[in-house]
Amino acid sequence: MEEKQNRRQFLFKSLGVAGTALIAGSSLSMIGCEEVEQKTPTGPPTNTNMINIDVTDPDFSELAAVGGIVPVTEGALRLMIFRKSETEAIALSRVCTHSQCDLSPQFGGTKIDDDTIECGCHASRFNLLSGAVERGPANADLVTYPATVNGDIISIDIS
Ligand code: FES
Repeated sequence: MEEKQNRRQFLFKSLGVAGTALIAGSSLSMIGCEEVEQKTPTGPPTNTNMINIDVTDPDFSELAAVGGIVPVTEGALRLMIFRKSETEAIALSRVCTHSQCDLSPQFGGTKIDDDTIECGCHASRFNLLSGAVERGPANADLVTYPATVNGDIISIDIS
């Protein structure tokens, strides 16, 4: 673990990224209809407006491949990160706007196709690229956050 942290710290420094050194942790919390395990970034942030995800970390390795979706928790924010392409990632709230169920596939949501995710509670559908509602009962879009890909690092601006 120490070796892993040192590698990450080096990686962030070498990239010149003034962001949060992401160290995966986990906890349990109640979201929507079920208790779920959270992947929580921890560690001393140097810029509280950025989350940096190292896709070589086993907890986030699904994001190394196009089409991968991983839930990420930062404080009160519950996000899902979607790897759209080799050079693009999308960061969205994963809290369904209908009754707050978790939309990530790991916790009950279903990826219908390349652009759509369906809530496991009442089948609302959202566009993964924009967060737009495609089918109710939800009637509000998901909040989205700017995300950039720089090699193995996905950076999300949560300001
Ligand atoms: S909570 Fe998602 S559709 Fe009801």
